[in-house]
Amino acid sequence: MVNVIFCGFGEKVDKRVFAKTGDVLLRVAESNGIKIPSECKDGMCGSCAVRVEEISNDEKMDSTTEDYSSKGQAVYMDDKELETLISMGAITKKEAEVAQQYNRPTPVRLACQCAIKNASILVKPYN
Ligand code: FES
Repeated sequence: MVNVIFCGFGEKVDKRVFAKTGDVLLRVAESNGIKIPSECKDGMCGSCAVRVEEISNDEKMDSTTEDYSSKGQAVYMDDKELETLISMGAITKKEAEVAQQYNRPTPVRLACQCAIKNASILVKPYN
C-alpha cells in the first residue's frame, strides 16, 4: 500500500488515502470522494490533468536496472497520454521525449491514465 495525498481539491481539508500498486489514480480519487473532472476517461480530453509529485519510494529498487531513473521507479507513459498533454500545453515535446527515453513520469499526468507505482505521491490540481 502506498500513500496518495490529495491537496487543493475543493474546500475540504487535504486528504491522505491508501492505494495499491496498479490502481488508477482517477479511480482512487473517485472512490475517496475527491472530485477530478473526467470527461472521456480514455486519455483523450485532458480534463483529468493533475500535478503528481513522488514524495517517497516505498520499495527498494535495483540500482543496476537501467530502466529505472535516478529518482523513482520506471514509469511508462503511452503515446496517447503524452500527445494529449502536449496538445493542451501541459508539457513540451522535449519533456515528452525525456519521459519516453528515460521512463520518467512528467510532472503533469492524466489521472485516468496514471497507474499508481510503489511510491507515495502528492496530487494537486493542474490549474
Ligand atoms: S478523463 Fe479525459 S483524459 Fe482523462
